[in-house]
Amino acid sequence: MPTETTAPVARPPRMSDNPVRRIAADIVAEWRGRGKFPPGPGDFSLSRTHQIAHDPLPILLSGYEEHGPIFSLRLFHTRVVFMLGPEANHFITVAHPENFHWRESSFGDLIPLLGDGLLTIDDDYHDRARAIMMPAFHREQLTAMIETMRAEAAEAVAALRPGEAVDVYGWMRSLAMRIAMRALLGLDPDEAGKGAAAAEHFERALGFYGIDYPLRLLRGPGSPWRKLTSSRQVLDEIVFGEIASRRAAPDPDSRDILSLLLGARGEAGEAFTDREVRDQVMTLMFAGHDTSTSTLTFMMHELARHPDVLARLHEEQDRVLAGAVPTLDRLEREMPYLEMVLDEVLRLYPPAWIGPRRAVRDFEFGGYTVPRDAYVNYCSWASHRIPEVFPEPEAFIPERFTRERKAALPRGAYVPFGGGQRVCIGKRFGQTEVKVVATMLLQKLRLEAQPGRTMSVRQMPTLSPKGGLKMRVRERGTPQGEPARAA
Ligand code: HEM
Repeated sequence: MPTETTAPVARPPRMSDNPVRRIAADIVAEWRGRGKFPPGPGDFSLSRTHQIAHDPLPILLSGYEEHGPIFSLRLFHTRVVFMLGPEANHFITVAHPENFHWRESSFGDLIPLLGDGLLTIDDDYHDRARAIMMPAFHREQLTAMIETMRAEAAEAVAALRPGEAVDVYGWMRSLAMRIAMRALLGLDPDEAGKGAAAAEHFERALGFYGIDYPLRLLRGPGSPWRKLTSSRQVLDEIVFGEIASRRAAPDPDSRDILSLLLGARGEAGEAFTDREVRDQVMTLMFAGHDTSTSTLTFMMHELARHPDVLARLHEEQDRVLAGAVPTLDRLEREMPYLEMVLDEVLRLYPPAWIGPRRAVRDFEFGGYTVPRDAYVNYCSWASHRIPEVFPEPEAFIPERFTRERKAALPRGAYVPFGGGQRVCIGKRFGQTEVKVVATMLLQKLRLEAQPGRTMSVRQMPTLSPKGGLKMRVRERGTPQGEPARAA
């Protein structure tokens, strides 16, 4: 049985998963804050709600043009405040995070799957958990994890056959899942029992967050909600079982995050409870798997459209690695162009594109008061496309991110990993994973766009190419457009 909490700070309150109750509470909260919302359309509109759910950029960027960095939109049953641009991002993440909670945000429906992990907790309870977890993400740990990344990437690249068409998104998704299983949970994804079942049920549970909101409200037998809860049950059995067996027979050489979290201690010397460890690893799996998948996929999409950028990347990797596998040192210190390409991919397509929050007190920004309990979001995706900050925002130009130009950006301008005390804890892990996979893939192969195919973006729960992204696998040396030898 999971142990009970020994946390020296109060656990966060339980949240209702009854959608009707939540909608009613939202309506009451908006009524209490009446008269205080920043400008923007306040009438009920299904088409606006639909547009935000399916293609939010145009509506957000025109809201910014019309009203400036803060405005509100009525979405479904409630008004939602959007804050865009460098100052707004800085205000929410760095200058005044105390005004906001994540837990009561519009993403609160992650709690039934993730529980009380870093993403869904706030204030002292969050800061304590984060401090306990930080050592698991230090450089030495990453050095151990890069071996897992390289081994998995080598196998996945070897499975690609020149001449075949591959869904890069699906390919990277299963690779990222394998890496997460091993590096985070210490499970072997090939092991017929636990490993494969955990991967399968995690994917099934995540499927819930990719479907349209109204369907997520259903609760009956066969509903997406029931599928989520039954997959969660399987995952719980696996993760709690794993925790119990590691507690019973700790392996001092084990380097996966689950083991590190079991051994981690807070300031008062207290350990995480079983439930806390479970919630944190589920959160890491969630936050770390879709994000790197999408980043790698969008990178391959842009490289296929920009052969000049690809050629410079090849030149850099050949010069620095001469065909050898990438090490952490080389990736971080000797391959600046790869870093610039990654930065530009994350500018155009930041997978965690929205920073959902709820105001916990009235606050002022940009000449407006925002009432307590308002839903407030910052949005890296829209902020990264403001032309005054990033000229020619639609163009893919890695040179924007030379060291000097990156340092000269206004604070809060570039926030693909968020900022302040909630900045992505897996930032280096994710960057390294994408760099390792991209480097090992491009050392051997080239991915070519399929003629006549366009890529469109879907954004729930993270930005990703709608319907995946089919590309043609080529030998690295094959000139573009030339028929390659089939496998
Ligand atoms: C390219 C890859 C990634 C991107 C772009 C990304 C992006 C982000 C962003 C924007 C946030 C802040 C959200 C907010 O302010 O509301 C965040 C938080 C977080 N990320 Fe990542 N992430 C990536 C990879 C990862 C990985 C690999 C892990 C875990 C292994 C991870 C774990 C987390 C966690 C736990 C948080 C919550 C931190 C906190 O609130 O203290 N992320 N991430």
